[in-house]
Amino acid sequence: MKVLFLACLSPKTGNHTTAERIRSHIESAGHSCELRDVADFHSPADVAHLVSQNPPFEGALAIHLFKAGRLLLDLRLPFGVIFGGTDINEDVKDEQKRVVMKQVLLKARFAVAFTEKLKEEAEFVLVSPDSKIYVQPQGIQTEEAEQFCWTEFLRSSEWHSENLHNILIIIGPKVDPALTAEVEAVVQRAAGVFLAQERSQQELHAAMKRCFAVVNSSVSEGMSAAILEAMDLRVPVLVRNIPGNAAVVKHGVTGLLFSSPQEFVHQSQRLLSDQELRERVVRSGKLYVEEHHSVKEERETYQRLMDKLHKVQFLT
Ligand SMILES: *[C@@H]1O[C@H](CO)[C@@H](O)[C@H](O)[C@H]1NC(C)=O
Repeated sequence: MKVLFLACLSPKTGNHTTAERIRSHIESAGHSCELRDVADFHSPADVAHLVSQNPPFEGALAIHLFKAGRLLLDLRLPFGVIFGGTDINEDVKDEQKRVVMKQVLLKARFAVAFTEKLKEEAEFVLVSPDSKIYVQPQGIQTEEAEQFCWTEFLRSSEWHSENLHNILIIIGPKVDPALTAEVEAVVQRAAGVFLAQERSQQELHAAMKRCFAVVNSSVSEGMSAAILEAMDLRVPVLVRNIPGNAAVVKHGVTGLLFSSPQEFVHQSQRLLSDQELRERVVRSGKLYVEEHHSVKEERETYQRLMDKLHKVQFLT
């Protein structure tokens, strides 16, 4: 089957990594899968034009009901959707977007949520029959680059270790210009906090591995692949206590949770001074990822789901 796969593909983002991984699952089942960035299409008509080419596409998949799924609404193509981070946490709050998302879900042959909780919320706010949404956590696979260029990191940490041992490095692409400006302004005033550019996934993993802990201080919901990757790399995680994070981090077991800056410092100090705690969270974190985020299981799920896209051949 020739499958079109639509997702938001800003380079070096978690979304991109997830999309690439799922594409490889689909191809390993013998389908051909063309991954395209939603930013390349201005309207559903652009997508319609693409899918009509020869040989025609026979099915489609989209990550993000609103951003990508809506482009598939007018097509006569069976499709499946995967809930994106902001779908249920942000986009549903907007009445108009919610209407579109409901239509997408209604037309989709299947939908995938990364967690049970997300599935329940989606069923509730988008009024979906329970049988349509499958839960499949993201598969986690880490690979460290052997060599990587990390000069800013070394320079800033060398320089900083003269007076402060604890530094925080924020790594990632500048996706939202307004947010970036805000972050840059704050970082300028904060001693020991540094911004670094995005890296390839292998370089990022090599960098994580050299850190004492990986922090997630996000206040907005989603599912953090970065946290799971850190666990897989046996690096302790220290994350804000919000439902998305608490779904993967059990306090004192697979990592540490904090709710305030004071608690962040307190938990970090615990992690620094308590070797046994550190070993425990690293061990349980690794086990957790192996048990719940297996790439093999993810592959099998998507391969099974692709069968649902085959058109019904004999209607009687
Ligand atoms: C931090 O956690 C939030 C919520 O789980 C998630 O949406 C975000 O992608 C995470 N970011 C990183 C860098 O871990």
